[in-house]
Amino acid sequence: MDALLSWLWSSEEEELKMLDFMAYFMVFMAVCTFLSLLFQNVPYGRYASSKYGFPVNVKLAWFVQELPSLLLPLCLMFWESSAKMSQLPNQLLVTMFLCHYFQRTLIYPFVIRGGKSTPFVSFALAFVFCIYNGYMQVRYLSHYAEYPAYWVTHPYFIVGSALWLTGWLLNIHSDHILRNLRKPGETGYKIPRGGMFEYVSAANFLGEITEWTGFAVAAQSVHSAAFALFTTVVLSSRAVAHHKWYLTKFEDYPKSRKALIPFVL
Ligand SMILES: NC(=O)c1ccc[n+]([C@@H]2O[C@H](COP(=O)([O-])OP(=O)(O)OC[C@H]3O[C@@H](n4cnc5c(N)ncnc54)[C@H](OP(=O)(O)O)[C@@H]3O)[C@@H](O)[C@H]2O)c1
Repeated sequence: MDALLSWLWSSEEEELKMLDFMAYFMVFMAVCTFLSLLFQNVPYGRYASSKYGFPVNVKLAWFVQELPSLLLPLCLMFWESSAKMSQLPNQLLVTMFLCHYFQRTLIYPFVIRGGKSTPFVSFALAFVFCIYNGYMQVRYLSHYAEYPAYWVTHPYFIVGSALWLTGWLLNIHSDHILRNLRKPGETGYKIPRGGMFEYVSAANFLGEITEWTGFAVAAQSVHSAAFALFTTVVLSSRAVAHHKWYLTKFEDYPKSRKALIPFVL
């Protein structure tokens, strides 16, 4: 790992500049993604299409595509000098990132019920994104990010961490509700009930957006803000698409339910 990073970057200044560039490029990609999602849903799950490559088994796709977001940070911390990992704010922020990807990589894929296969292009894009984002978030936090000693008592950190935790729990709980709509072996769709689904069609996405927004508030970096923005763009578009899909599919779909933001949108 050390050899690879020194081959890639001639100095720490150069690596830090590149990490900043990666964050700004992610913002640029979020804008491009926003525009392309006006014309096309991200093609997986109920919008999967053979136009986007051969189908990859859904459990295998989720496990493999998310794995870099777990493995790369662990390699960076254990096989690489991680100068800032002795600091409590950095430790807590990296822990938030790892908790999410531990659940997403090692638990979520194996409990999916009857999920649609993922087209290869969607799988490959998610895999590349997880390498890109896993490196950008955790390399910055473990080696470069500087926080004052009192940062963990700063309102930004406290509010951000509380949002992160609330969002994470909401995401896990809502995915659990969706999963249990199907009996083992079933593949069809039903109206989700309970939890935040009483208010919005995409409670799991609301959780994930809240989670990474909280992370960005706590971390106060362009890298975390870029990730929160990218997540918001992708999942808010998917939330609106799911909401419209439910309204056309189910005549008895609850009329007061919104797409993503309770009582608003
Ligand atoms: N950070 C990011 O940028 C990002 C991007 C994408 C996803 N994610 C996260 O990854 C997780 C999964 O995302 P997703 O887009 O696959 O979510 P999704 O479209 O809500 O589907 C989640 C799972 O529930 C099933 N399901 C959904 N609605 C259902 C219904 N009404 N009845 C029965 N089963 C239903 C789906 O089956 P089918 O496969 O058969 O549709 C799938 O297995 C979420 O927690 C999301 O927040 C994060």
